[in-house]
Amino acid sequence: MIRTYDDLELGYVKEVLERGQLGWITPGGMQEQFEKAFARFVGAKVAMSRNNAMNGLAEAISVSGAGAATEVLCDPIVHFGALAAVWFNAVPRFVDVEYDTYNMDPASLRANVTELSRAVVVTHHWGYPARIDEIRQILDETNKEIAEKLADEMRADVSAAVQERVRKLVSEWSQSTWDHAPVSVPDDARAILEAHVCGLIRDCIAAVRAAAGGE
Ligand SMILES: Cc1ncc(COP(=O)(O)O)c(C=O)c1O
Repeated sequence: MIRTYDDLELGYVKEVLERGQLGWITPGGMQEQFEKAFARFVGAKVAMSRNNAMNGLAEAISVSGAGAATEVLCDPIVHFGALAAVWFNAVPRFVDVEYDTYNMDPASLRANVTELSRAVVVTHHWGYPARIDEIRQILDETNKEIAEKLADEMRADVSAAVQERVRKLVSEWSQSTWDHAPVSVPDDARAILEAHVCGLIRDCIAAVRAAAGGE
């Protein structure tokens, strides 16, 4: 077997053993030092190490909002992302890979993102880096498209509900005010009222989206 450690690594092992604390909650311990050094090396603000890769994947899925009736986009070559998805009752949806690297194909990712998508698990297979920048850009774009589509659907739902409510209120009001001689409210007056209330609601939605950082 090729020896891949020398006195440097053996010194670290000795240091840990002499410290007498093998748990992970050891301020300034090896884990913290490793995370800081790794973050510096890859140019990230922070790095978090885990005891194994499945735990890391499970944690990532758990904070993504994936669960029953949602999907996690995974590569089909190794099964670990899909396993993490099913642990949280989410459905793995397999995205195709590129012929040369076997890594996730950004074009196939774009074709597979849906309103049910909550997370994407990307594997860098066998030392070939996946096209993460492109994948991130596609996710930013598709997130925006889906958010706009959902907002449009919500606006349509709200408009329909408001129209129905206004229709009902106007009828009830005309009945109760002139109990014995109900007045009929002209359809065009009703339509103006409905349009006015729907306009107010549209303005409210736009204001909420603007406050949340949307357009
Ligand atoms: C790409 C990938 N993800 C996750 C795992 C799971 O790793 P672990 O055994 O550390 O939980 C493996 C294991 O080979 C892997 O190759």
